[in-house]
Amino acid sequence: MKTAIIYTSKHGTTAKVAQMIAERLNQVLTIDLKKDKHPDVNSYDGIILGTSIYAGTSSKAMQRFCKENLETLKQKRLALFVCGMELDVTKQQQELANAYPQELYGYAVSKCFAGGKFQFEKMNFFERAIIKRIAKTDKSVSQIREKDIEKFVADIR
Ligand SMILES: Cc1cc2nc3c(=O)[nH]c(=O)nc-3n(C[C@H](O)[C@H](O)[C@H](O)COP(=O)(O)O)c2cc1C
Repeated sequence: MKTAIIYTSKHGTTAKVAQMIAERLNQVLTIDLKKDKHPDVNSYDGIILGTSIYAGTSSKAMQRFCKENLETLKQKRLALFVCGMELDVTKQQQELANAYPQELYGYAVSKCFAGGKFQFEKMNFFERAIIKRIAKTDKSVSQIREKDIEKFVADIR
């Protein structure tokens, strides 16, 4: 089975998680939607979509991609993940469910809130100010959830 991981990432965390998933599966290609805006979804049997969450929502590029390819994506073996730093489990699940069209969410064989990173050195002035206020720290931190990623991959196989 040929699989593509199609992702968007602002500061590199979702790209890293996409890579971690790719390393755990066979015959997988990772595609950055920023570099390849119109990947040929038809070339793959399986599609894994990944986006980071900012202010509760997925990236505009991922929303556009899902809208444009909705019918084709529904024919695929589909899995969905998001990267985010939300701590509340209910809100994590809401972010995951809201990140992708409801129709696709229902089709997905595997879903994952993969955690994320705060990387202050990569944030702009406004992002730093927001995160400092919310997280009450200005220390970079990684909360990538390896166990959940393992389970996500196991459900895809
Ligand atoms: C300004 C800002 C807003 C954020 N808002 C959210 C949010 O609403 N929910 C969440 O779960 N994570 C939020 N995050 C955390 C990011 O999703 C996290 O840093 C993620 O790892 C970023 O991935 P990326 O580097 O692939 O873009 C926010 C981060 C920043 C800097």
